[in-house]
Amino acid sequence: MRAILACLFLCGAFAAHAFAAEPSEETIERGKALVEAGDCAGCHTADPAKPFAGGKRIDTPFGAIYSPNLTPDRETGIGAWSDQDFHGALRFGVAPDGSRYYPAFPYPNFTRLTRPDILAIRAYLSTLTPFANKAPPPELRFPLNHRVVMRLWNYLFFRPGILQPEQQKGTDWNRGRYLVEGLGHCGVCHTPKNIFGADRRGRAFSGGLVGGWFAPRLDGAERGGLKSWSVDDIAEYLASGRNGRSHADGPMAEVIVDSTSKMSDADIHAIAVYLKSLPSGPPEPAVLPPPETSMKAGEAVYAHACIACHEADGSGAPRIYPPLPGNPLLQSADPASTLRVILDGAQTVTTPRAPNTGSMPAYASQLSDQQIADVTNYIRNAWGNAGSAVTAEQVAQARKTR
Ligand code: HEC
Ligand code: HEC
Ligand code: HEC
Repeated sequence: MRAILACLFLCGAFAAHAFAAEPSEETIERGKALVEAGDCAGCHTADPAKPFAGGKRIDTPFGAIYSPNLTPDRETGIGAWSDQDFHGALRFGVAPDGSRYYPAFPYPNFTRLTRPDILAIRAYLSTLTPFANKAPPPELRFPLNHRVVMRLWNYLFFRPGILQPEQQKGTDWNRGRYLVEGLGHCGVCHTPKNIFGADRRGRAFSGGLVGGWFAPRLDGAERGGLKSWSVDDIAEYLASGRNGRSHADGPMAEVIVDSTSKMSDADIHAIAVYLKSLPSGPPEPAVLPPPETSMKAGEAVYAHACIACHEADGSGAPRIYPPLPGNPLLQSADPASTLRVILDGAQTVTTPRAPNTGSMPAYASQLSDQQIADVTNYIRNAWGNAGSAVTAEQVAQARKTR
């Protein structure tokens, strides 16, 4: 009798185990690539010694929130979750207890993922080393400190569901759209947000502010958008953090190191094809040119401080010193990223495809607010460039935003 009971219990357990199809090696490998393309580590790793154990502080305009632990630890991670729980989180932004997540977790993008891709991500995460780590509770302001508010937010702004492939477009375009709008969540930074932190309607990829940086337009706008970049230019930038036209700094440098540089050439090409298909987008704001005195003063600062690397005609040395004429980041409506680079300097990112380093010195302590405003005005308006005037007050403000 006991043997039978034991068998009922154990044999059942063994059978269940044998029949719950274990994910294949290929699925786990595919999941790893998807996790990289989604840059899950970018937000879920606070301590590099504990990958994916969460606890990273993510600042939002509504306060801070800490990423949870994605390792298979059963108490503090997601080890005790069912596949259905995991699917619910990514597809619907719903936690296993039925409460709603904040969109600092890009589920409004991840909802585009197919079910097999979501489960492959889950399969890969299940192979990670478990770490015990409980994220601190969110520090959001009223009324967002009440999670229940997210039900209303979702009702207003969240449209769950995968993207239907558009048959008349090619496979590259469809794959590119899946990566840009879904897994790669590029619009989290590159699409401007409304006062509720949701994407502004009709302004997809027309540029957004993120932690003191400006993520430039990715649409086909002439000056501040990607009109002047070819598919190959975009692909090279995403693969290596630089191209003959610009270098990636700040949050984009992280996206490239953690995510896009690890993608396959085919996926990177697909993203570039999709971005090049975006329309020119909302009209660029009229340029309010800087005063002539500021241009003159800026030219003098440039001749003194910048010319050694960037050259008198701004041409620099492509892939070493980024050229300034025609540069869309530089001519963006919002000068935030340009000010960050001039104030803080910049280190060229190294990736397997472009391992050589380079750097630009920081000018925060060498130049005054007015001098930085002047040189910024100069490079934004010399050589046929056009960008609205930047003031010393804006520079002072940028110094404080870090
Ligand atoms: C931009 C930052 C960011 C990125 C990128 C990101 N997450 Fe998150 N994620 C968060 C935050 C913040 C939360 C917590 C949301 C909340 O508490 O409402 C979260 C929550 C989650 C949860 C719920 C966990 C729990 O314990 O309730 C899962 C699952 C998850 N993320 C998986 C992923 C996966 C898989 C990826 C990559 C495909 C990913 N995340 C990428 C920020 C991010
Ligand atoms: C965390 C925020 C963030 C995310 C996510 C992000 N970007 Fe960016 N991106 C930026 C910022 C900021 C810059 C400006 C970088 C600089 O100052 O060098 C930028 C620059 C770029 C540029 C160069 C544009 C130019 O005119 O110089 C391209 C192309 C680009 N991003 C594509 C993408 C794609 C494709 C994705 C999604 C796979 C993506 N980005 C995701 C923040 C982000
Ligand atoms: C010692 C050489 C050097 C000097 C001097 C220098 N830069 Fe740079 N600059 C660089 C390098 C290298 C980069 C690329 C950094 C990177 O890869 O992240 C860069 C990047 C930039 C960018 C970003 C362009 C883009 O598309 O990524 C701007 C704007 C810029 N410099 C302006 C200036 C200004 C203004 C001065 C003078 C006040 C100056 N630089 C002085 C080397 C220099």
